[in-house]
Amino acid sequence: MFSTTYARAFLALVLWTGFTYALTISSPLGPVVDLSYAAYAGNATSPTGDANSSVVFFGGIPYAQAPLGNLRFRAPQPLNETATGNGTVVDARNFATPCIQQPAVLGVGSEDCLRLNVWKPANATESSNLPVVVYIYGGGLYAGTTQGFPMYDWVAENQGIVAVSVSYRLNVLGFLSGSAVGEAPDADFNAGLLDQRAALEWVQRNIGKFGGDKDQVTIDGESAGGASVVMQMVAYGGEKGAPFKRVVSQSIGYDPLIDPLSSRAETLFANFSIAVGCSNDTSNVSALACLREAPLESIVTGINAIGNGDIEAVVDGNFLPDLPSHLITSGRFSTVEYMGGHCTHDGRTFAGGKPSQFVTDQDIVALTFPRWPYVTNETLQEVFDFYPKVNATGSPFVTEYDRAWTIAGDVIFTCMDQLIADTLVSKGVENVFSFRWNTPNPVLLAASPYLGVMHTSDLYYLFDGTTSAANAGFTFTPFNTSEVLLSHEAIAYWTSFAATGSPSTLRSPGSTAWSPYLSSATDRLRMVLTVGNGNVTQSGLEQKTQFEVDRCAFWMQDGITAQTRV
Ligand SMILES: *[C@@H]1O[C@H](CO)[C@@H](O)[C@H](O)[C@H]1NC(C)=O
Ligand SMILES: *[C@@H]1O[C@H](CO)[C@@H](O)[C@H](O)[C@H]1NC(C)=O
Ligand SMILES: *[C@@H]1O[C@H](CO)[C@@H](O)[C@H](O)[C@H]1NC(C)=O
Ligand SMILES: *[C@@H]1O[C@H](CO)[C@@H](O)[C@H](O)[C@H]1NC(C)=O
Ligand SMILES: *[C@@H]1O[C@H](CO)[C@@H](O)[C@H](O)[C@H]1NC(C)=O
Ligand SMILES: *[C@@H]1O[C@H](CO)[C@@H](O)[C@H](O)[C@H]1NC(C)=O
Ligand SMILES: *[C@@H]1O[C@H](CO)[C@@H](O)[C@H](O)[C@H]1NC(C)=O
Ligand SMILES: *[C@@H]1O[C@H](CO)[C@@H](O)[C@H](O)[C@H]1NC(C)=O
Ligand SMILES: *[C@@H]1O[C@H](CO)[C@@H](O)[C@H](O)[C@H]1NC(C)=O
Repeated sequence: MFSTTYARAFLALVLWTGFTYALTISSPLGPVVDLSYAAYAGNATSPTGDANSSVVFFGGIPYAQAPLGNLRFRAPQPLNETATGNGTVVDARNFATPCIQQPAVLGVGSEDCLRLNVWKPANATESSNLPVVVYIYGGGLYAGTTQGFPMYDWVAENQGIVAVSVSYRLNVLGFLSGSAVGEAPDADFNAGLLDQRAALEWVQRNIGKFGGDKDQVTIDGESAGGASVVMQMVAYGGEKGAPFKRVVSQSIGYDPLIDPLSSRAETLFANFSIAVGCSNDTSNVSALACLREAPLESIVTGINAIGNGDIEAVVDGNFLPDLPSHLITSGRFSTVEYMGGHCTHDGRTFAGGKPSQFVTDQDIVALTFPRWPYVTNETLQEVFDFYPKVNATGSPFVTEYDRAWTIAGDVIFTCMDQLIADTLVSKGVENVFSFRWNTPNPVLLAASPYLGVMHTSDLYYLFDGTTSAANAGFTFTPFNTSEVLLSHEAIAYWTSFAATGSPSTLRSPGSTAWSPYLSSATDRLRMVLTVGNGNVTQSGLEQKTQFEVDRCAFWMQDGITAQTRV
């Protein structure tokens, strides 16, 4: 609709006749990046309407074929990037439609969603070789969008990087398992993780044209996005290398990983099939064929019939040869530079109840542990002994709720970063950094004060005051003068890590220098990111307490992660 044609035929003729000068394609839509197989016009207007923005945005660029029809439930299939473009400059000035969410709503989201976005400095060229940061959204692997996490500010703040955000299939469309999928030669487990990988491979092939350096890629994600980052790091047990050099994981979070052929997986497949209307199919072959032929309307019904907590990646024996924690402890992962951390009260979001509901140990079993059903009674007993009761001498816990949310957080959200950081340090990696996000999302805090510095608080400051969800619309709350300082400080730390391997190098003027995690054998230092109330933040370094170190060591033992299945 907004497309213009250009002299592609002329270009072919020029090449045919042996001339080697390059043609520059232009478009009235905006700056053009020509990938040979396709050309994209970006958006040179800033989000505030500045027509001479220092950043150009390219949205909705396909990185694989649309996963429609027989490509449903299949690994992403490559585009033909050796073909010559058809003479069209594609309008890439806006975000594409996000992937289908859960709860699924007909008309919101699309299956044709294997797209990514690029923000580049306006003056970056093919010879710029700038470090690249790729953001992978969270949302439990059942929801999430790129539009809710715009990276404009990252590139505006640090004109020495290129930013990318990627969409991947969610919920049953990205994570269907069971024997019908396992037996089919053309269906794949963990399709959503394979989408992420395909996007990262696209970045390897094409980001140079946007001014990026494929050898300096950082991947970053939060919650299920943080889990995705870990899964990309341990993918194939590290045997295939990794299309990135650095990793940032924020509040790594996922539910127990199941076996793709377990009875739980088969039940989930059956429940989904019945809801879609494919229940009468007796063979696995026809069951899958029926699901692929089903109209989106029926798929939407099927998605909503599955509990969102039932959607999980699976230990498929290929992309994930084992539990991520076990791959890490057995050294089967790609060695990377690392920055990781979590929010102070991540666990409150996952305790499973409100403060008044927690009175006895049994309340913790009943409210908190349904999320981790394979944890044994023996382990729970050990846990309750390890986390001193409220009235025990020296107990750090003031209420039973404190115990519950501390446990709920430690199981994975607040502790897996310690396992990764310790392991990388022991392998001799110097660029390892840790943080604790200590300022709440004020919008969520107003709604539920007892949640404190709840899960996702960091995202609010890194992404423009976001409290967004595709179904509810994209909401960005303006910062006050103290919050904006924290936002700038955090973005500078994050982009500095992506650009140099250290969050400290290009930090904001006035920000505290951020020392590595283990500067000696025992000092586990981390940056505590805290809002101020004047013209400076109150962020500073702290040392992790021995109690927290010990708790995390407990949860990250192989024998315990075999039960939490993280
Ligand atoms: C370009 O970006 C601006 C700012 O984000 C936005 O308002 C506009 O809708 C975008 N699209 C086009 C076609 O200009
Ligand atoms: C890709 O396009 C090129 C050029 O049009 C063609 O020769 C090649 O066969 C195509 N590859 C595939 C896998 O379709
Ligand atoms: C040319 O390619 C673009 C995508 O690269 C596509 O949207 C468009 O439909 C194609 N046009 C023709 C005439 O094939
Ligand atoms: C692009 O402009 C920024 C300032 O806006 C400058 O710092 C940077 O060096 C420039 N980059 C190139 C490649 O010219
Ligand atoms: C499958 O559906 C049954 C009946 O609604 C329900 O009890 C069960 O929890 C569901 N199981 C899964 C794994 O979705
Ligand atoms: C698929 O095959 C397995 C055995 O190979 C069987 O247990 C299962 O019920 C089949 N599923 C469907 C939907 O036919
Ligand atoms: C574990 O404890 C619960 C009560 O907390 C009990 O209902 C259950 O039977 C116990 N399981 C085993 C295997 O002992
Ligand atoms: C800004 O909001 C934060 C809470 O997010 C509050 O702590 C701070 O005092 C406010 N600062 C100003 C200057 O209003
Ligand atoms: C911050 O405010 C204090 C007190 O108002 C002032 O002395 C200081 O110069 C200010 N610093 C900056 C960097 O503006």
